[in-house]
Amino acid sequence: MESVLQQINLGVVLLDHECRVVYWNDFMAINSGRSVTEVVGQSLFDLFPELPRLWVKKKIDSVLTLQNLAFTSWQQRPQLFNFSDSRPITGQGEAMYQNCTFFPVMEASATIKYVCLTVADATETAAQHLELTRLNELLQAEKEQQARLIRKLEEAQAQLLQSEKMAAIGQLAAGVAHEINNPVGYVNSNIGSLESYVKELFDLIEAYNRDLPLLQDAAFRARIEQANREQDYEFLRGDVFNLIRESREGLARVKRIVQDLRDFSHVDSTDWQMVDLHRGLDSTLNVVWNEVKFKAEVIKQYGQLPDVECIGSQLNQVFMNLIVNAAHAIESSGTIWLETGTRDEWVFVRVRDNGCGIASENLKRLFEPFFTTKPVGSGTGLGLSVSYNIVSKHHGRIEVESEPGQGTAFTVWLPVRQPSEGQEAP
Ligand SMILES: Nc1ncnc2c1ncn2[C@@H]1O[C@H](COP(=O)(O)OP(=O)(O)OP(=O)(O)O)[C@@H](O)[C@H]1O
Ligand SMILES: [Mg+2]
Repeated sequence: MESVLQQINLGVVLLDHECRVVYWNDFMAINSGRSVTEVVGQSLFDLFPELPRLWVKKKIDSVLTLQNLAFTSWQQRPQLFNFSDSRPITGQGEAMYQNCTFFPVMEASATIKYVCLTVADATETAAQHLELTRLNELLQAEKEQQARLIRKLEEAQAQLLQSEKMAAIGQLAAGVAHEINNPVGYVNSNIGSLESYVKELFDLIEAYNRDLPLLQDAAFRARIEQANREQDYEFLRGDVFNLIRESREGLARVKRIVQDLRDFSHVDSTDWQMVDLHRGLDSTLNVVWNEVKFKAEVIKQYGQLPDVECIGSQLNQVFMNLIVNAAHAIESSGTIWLETGTRDEWVFVRVRDNGCGIASENLKRLFEPFFTTKPVGSGTGLGLSVSYNIVSKHHGRIEVESEPGQGTAFTVWLPVRQPSEGQEAP
């Protein structure tokens, strides 16, 4: 037993009540560089000044009085003794990680004679453990980076989807507008001619009627008067011009809609230009009017806006998303306010509604791609995420305020001029 104890790969030290060394094995001798004869009778604290004296003393006292075991592991205290590690693989003199135990050693009379302290080399376990932790952290960081990438990808895909959709709608709208423009053009000019011809025809009939009393042939005269009455000539004369005027108004509206469609799709410009945002708002409102008119009264509170450097068609898309959202938030009847104004070098366009409002837990998710509270099939959840990206591209920002049950306001802030390359927005 003596020889096993001497050679075991574990430090074993026996201490008396005064913490003086009574025994120590090879492990201790090799690692401390001191033989048994050098240390017996000396205080542990004199031999190892690095020991946390108070702490070790407390452990030893507790073993002596309570007769219990005390431990310390490398995770709490990596090194109690300044031993260096002797791992053959690295060969480097790193510090040895240690697990230590204090336990009482009894005499036959059951009184405590010694405290035994064992020191186990835990460097191998510790190294593996630490390596694992490091790898785990690396993995975690990689995972987060991947999540960020996926989010970016989703956003890009969402924007692509929506801008493809918008491009298709824009092209369709522009095509339809162009097709309608031709027939509307000639109907318009024909109506003009028609009006003057009809007027001349009536002048002619008036001339005949004026001379009617001069007719000698009473029977002939009576026939003509009879025909006048049968055709309700007086009504015809009054109504024909009303019809023509109404048709002209109808045509003017068609022309307006065609113009709005063209403005909205901005077929001619996808570049940065100085744009009158009020015009963009008006044409967008007309394009989505169908979604809005049965539900909401629209109140425009426009301030003075300078022309703003932007890509008009893209901002129209933002206005459209906000106005349609506002209309959707109104269940049966409500109001949508369109407000604009300036502050310093910035302009704002606000779309405010008194609709259902937004629950606070949804507020921070609004701009995520595919976030929608609408039933499957009626909302893709892309409107706001795309709007956000467009406004960011313009170096602007979108603010949202909402009170559930009261309404919502989305405010788009844009710098009047785009900052030049490498410059911050004002
Ligand atoms: N004015 C508003 N009032 C109340 N809720 C709103 C308003 N605007 C947006 N929301 C909420 O934000 C969600 C996301 O809006 P977003 O425009 O991104 O997607 P969507 O309208 O659901 O779908 P779509 O892609 O067709 O626009 C909506 O589903 C709705 O819950
Ligand atoms: Mg929407």
